[in-house]
Amino acid sequence: MNLCVLGAQWGDEGKGKIVDLLTPRFSIVARYQGGHNAGHTVYVRGQKFVLHLVPSGILHPGVTCVIGNGVVVDPHALFAELDDLARLGIDVNGRLLVSDKAHLILSYHRELELLAEARRGERRIGTTSRGIGPAYEDKIGRRGIRVGDLADQSADGPLVGAVRENVEARNRLIGNLDLEWTVVVADLRKVWTRLKPLVADVSLYLFDAMAEGRAVMFEGAQGTLLDIDHGTYPYVTSSNGTTGGVLTGLGIGPRAVDQVMGVAKAYTTRVGEGPLPTELHGAMGERLRETGQEYGASTGRPRRCGWYDAVAVRYAARVNGLDSLAITKLDVLDGLDELQVCTAYRCGNTVLRDMPGDVAQLAACEPVYESIAGWQESTKGVTTFSALPAAAQRYIRKLEETSGVPASIISTGSDREHTIIR
Ligand code: GDP
Ligand code: IMO
Ligand code: MG
Repeated sequence: MNLCVLGAQWGDEGKGKIVDLLTPRFSIVARYQGGHNAGHTVYVRGQKFVLHLVPSGILHPGVTCVIGNGVVVDPHALFAELDDLARLGIDVNGRLLVSDKAHLILSYHRELELLAEARRGERRIGTTSRGIGPAYEDKIGRRGIRVGDLADQSADGPLVGAVRENVEARNRLIGNLDLEWTVVVADLRKVWTRLKPLVADVSLYLFDAMAEGRAVMFEGAQGTLLDIDHGTYPYVTSSNGTTGGVLTGLGIGPRAVDQVMGVAKAYTTRVGEGPLPTELHGAMGERLRETGQEYGASTGRPRRCGWYDAVAVRYAARVNGLDSLAITKLDVLDGLDELQVCTAYRCGNTVLRDMPGDVAQLAACEPVYESIAGWQESTKGVTTFSALPAAAQRYIRKLEETSGVPASIISTGSDREHTIIR
C-alpha cells in the first residue's frame, strides 16, 4: 500500500508528525514538491527535529528518503540540514536520493523574490523569502538549472552558459550589477562535489522499488489552499502540493498512489497574506496561537489562527480524493467552553457550501458557524478514542461529518506517542 500524506488546509497541519509516525510501515518516503519553505516538525521522546527538504521519514534507520524532480533544491539549505541532522546523530548516508531533474534555487532567486515582494507592496504574498517562486518561474520559463546539469562544468558547456545568461538577465532587471556569474559558477563547482553522490534517477528508482513490492509514502509540503492551481491564488506557493503533484513531481503513474490522507488541524491556521475566512482577531485567536505555539517552523512568523473550516477541508477532500483525515492538535482546544465549526460561507445574500474560486469573493465571505460544546478535561497524550472526553468525541465526529471524510488518526500532542490510531 502506497500512501500520500498531504496538507488539507493552509500548511503546517502537522504533516511532519504524521509522516514520521507512519514511516515504520514504509520502505521509502518521497517529497514531490515545494522546497525549504516547508518546515516539518517531528518530536521523538522530547527531542525536536525540523525537516525542510529532507523527507520526515529520515529519523527511522533503514528507510530511504527521496527528493523528487518536482522539488526545488537550495543546495546550501540542503547541506545545512544534513549537517544539523548529523549533529543530532542522524546518519543519512546511502539513504537520501535527490532527483537529477530537480531544479536548483540559487542566490539570485532569493534576491529576485525580495524585489518582487517589495514591488507588490500592499499586495505582497508574504512568502518565506526562500527563492521558491523565482526558481519555479525559471523552471516553467525553461531557463532553470537542474541538479543533473551540474555534471558538466566545462567552461564552454551548457551549465556555464545558462548561469551566465540568468545572472546577466537578473543584473539587467535589478539594475545593480553586483553579482558576477563567475562567482555563481565557482559555487556550483563546490556544490557538485557534495551533491553528486546523492543524485539519482528518482522515477526509475521508485519504479524498480515498487516492482519489488517496497511500500512508498509520498509527503506533501504546504497545503491544498496554498496549491498554485487549487489554492487561494495569488496568495499561494508556486507548486502543486495536492495529489496531482505526486505524479508529476516524482515521475510515477496514477496507480502508484493507493490511498490519500489529508492532515488537518482541529482548528485553522495560515501564515502569510491572503484570505482566511474563519480568522479570529481577538483574544480567542491569541489563545489558539499561544496554546498551539503557532509560530512558523521555518520563519518563526506568528500564524494567523481561526476556527475549523469544514468548507476548506471538504474542498481538499474533493481536490485530492482524500480517503481519510489525520486531525491534529486536538489538545490545543482543551478547556474551551464552546467551539465553532464553519460549515458554509455567507457571501452577500448567498450561502456558499463550496469554496469559491475567486480570491476577492472569498475575502468578502463570512463564515457560517455551527456551535458545539467544548470540554474541560485534558486530552493531551490520549491514545484511544474512547478515553477522550465525550464532548471531544462529539467534536471529532462533527469534523468528520462536516468534512465528509473519516478521521483515521487523531493527534493529541506533538510526540509520536501522543496519537490515537483508529
Ligand atoms: P507541518 O509543516 O505540516 O509538518 O507542521 P509544522 O511542523 O509546521 O507545525 C505543526 C506544529 O504542531 C509542530 O510544532 C508540531 O510539533 C505540533 N504538533 C503536531 N501535532 C500536534 C498535536 O497533536 N498537538 C500539539 N499540541 N502539537 C502538535
Ligand atoms: P509546510 O510544508 C505554511 C506560505 C507562505 C506564503 C506562501 C508563499 O511547513 O506546511 P513561498 O515561500 O512558498 O513562495 O510562500 O505560502 N507557505 C507556507 N505556509 N506552511 C508551509 O509549509 C508553507 N510554505 C509556504 O507563508 O504565504
Ligand atoms: Mg510547517
